[in-house]
Amino acid sequence: MKILLTGSAGFIGFHTAQALLARGDDVIGLDNMSPYYDPTLKEARLKLLEGKKGFTFIRGDILDRETVKKCMEGTDRACHLAALAGVRYSFEHPEEYIATNIRGFFNVLDEARIQKIPGVVYASSSSVYGDAKKFPAKESDPTDAQVSLYGMTKKDNELLAHTYHRLYGIPVTGLRFFTVYGPWGRPDMALFLFTDALLHGHPLSIFGEGKMQRDWTSVDDIVSGIVAAIDKNFDEEIFNLGCGRKEELMDFVKIIEESCGKEATKEFLPMQPGDVRVTSADISKAKRMLGYEPKTMIREGVPKFIQWYREYYAL
Ligand SMILES: NC(=O)c1ccc[n+]([C@@H]2O[C@H](COP(=O)([O-])OP(=O)(O)OC[C@H]3O[C@@H](n4cnc5c(N)ncnc54)[C@H](O)[C@@H]3O)[C@@H](O)[C@H]2O)c1
Repeated sequence: MKILLTGSAGFIGFHTAQALLARGDDVIGLDNMSPYYDPTLKEARLKLLEGKKGFTFIRGDILDRETVKKCMEGTDRACHLAALAGVRYSFEHPEEYIATNIRGFFNVLDEARIQKIPGVVYASSSSVYGDAKKFPAKESDPTDAQVSLYGMTKKDNELLAHTYHRLYGIPVTGLRFFTVYGPWGRPDMALFLFTDALLHGHPLSIFGEGKMQRDWTSVDDIVSGIVAAIDKNFDEEIFNLGCGRKEELMDFVKIIEESCGKEATKEFLPMQPGDVRVTSADISKAKRMLGYEPKTMIREGVPKFIQWYREYYAL
């Protein structure tokens, strides 16, 4: 297939591109190399993709309709991962989030309608559940009370996709990712921040007084779910993609300490705006319909990240 992949220089986009290219798909990667976090990391990911058979990269913005139009021409699927993805940053930059995450997705979806693209897969998030009270969260649970502007933009994406499917019959699959981690991960996320602080001898800032629980999901597992969604191309579905296990934050920190061979100094801080106490995915629907089967637990996944981190930063 020929697949438009937005956000291809991003963390999940990079791994998705690798998987699609490895099985012989053509990938048109579109990314504006947003400076939200260190763009040199994005350039390094891109370097590994460029030159691979079947990969074409367009450095461009999903807010530029003409660019989206050109990139989409002749494709069999649009896989939309580009977004501003940080929860905390969304409080400081609401306009950018509304533009990139809502207008940007509209451009992709509307162009898919015009060009009659056979299927659209897009990234949603566990953030649509807000500070839910019932766990594990199921796709059919209420998602009408987000606690961050970021979460609201993802919920908006789901509504837009639903409306486009109803009105124009475009096949749309939304994937609610749960705290994704792994090699080439994002510098604004806990695993990167903790590892970076620990290996540089700085204290770890632990929010929520260390009492949070997360469904950490290895990027390899997420990619297997994305690829399955691209292939199955359901009419209209939403899937949780998590690991299906709820882990204590302090157990996660312990595994990081063991993998780094160092004990951290910890600074316990209150929850931050936009944080939720628990994320936990019911993944039975993805298992049943996508054949999704997470393979990597944090005990194996965290050391893989730390090994990458040490190599990449030559520590
Ligand atoms: N990583 C997670 O834990 C997680 C969890 C839930 C949902 N998601 C979603 O998954 C998707 C991928 O996330 P990620 O962790 O890889 O984030 P990322 O920031 O690494 O990747 C997003 C990419 O989109 C690009 N981008 C941003 N604005 C753009 C624009 N206007 N035009 C073109 N490209 C643009 C960025 O440069 C970046 O490379 C996002 O939609 C995110 O919201 C991620």
